[in-house]
Amino acid sequence: MNELPTAPAVAGALSLWPTPLGVHRWSRADEVNPLLARVLGSLRAMAPPQAAGFFASDDDLLERIRLPEWQDFLRFVVDALHATVAKANRDAWPRPTPDLQVHLRGMWFQAANHGASHDVHTHGNCSWSGVYCVQVDDEDRRVADALLGERNGVTRFYGPYFPHLGGAHADLGNAYLQSAHLDVAPRPGQLIVFPSWLAHQAMAYRGERDRIIISFNASVHAAQGGDRLHGHAAA
Ligand SMILES: [Fe+2]
Repeated sequence: MNELPTAPAVAGALSLWPTPLGVHRWSRADEVNPLLARVLGSLRAMAPPQAAGFFASDDDLLERIRLPEWQDFLRFVVDALHATVAKANRDAWPRPTPDLQVHLRGMWFQAANHGASHDVHTHGNCSWSGVYCVQVDDEDRRVADALLGERNGVTRFYGPYFPHLGGAHADLGNAYLQSAHLDVAPRPGQLIVFPSWLAHQAMAYRGERDRIIISFNASVHAAQGGDRLHGHAAA
């Protein structure tokens, strides 16, 4: 059972149920991203055509790409996941922290242009997900789009308060509710690691170059023993 902190520690209000989100940058991105874009472009060329301006691969990139640079990219992803997940769970994991295994459960890529978007969704059968930006137009060019502007190609995350804004009552008393979503600008080399339950959306993108992202799902396990912290009470 979770324990309520004693009154002096609460200092007026508990701040419960945060949304952890990790922002990382791959140090080899400038060097390797052009190679990744070419490899992903080859995979797209071999696949059946999809809707104009949009392509989503199968989630089998882990098995399909065999390059030393790809292995280095996967190491970066696993290290980034480990760092964010450890920080998110630092007060929830037992002490001493068990040895962990990070399992990538599927990885795929999407390419978008000509106003294509990916509607609001969450990811299932995993605990963490991520999105890595391989290629997109430079920010100045991206935001100069007359129709899309600042929203051109951003990933929008919808916080857990968002579904509770029905009625849209707003006063200073619920100001903390009013930043209910976050727009993350696409930057080549940037990896966002987020809880799989967090609703998100790839906003419409239009540019000279395709917006190419790699997405993945992951689970994190104790190297030995079970993962559950709390047993279930018998009925
Ligand atoms: Fe997604």
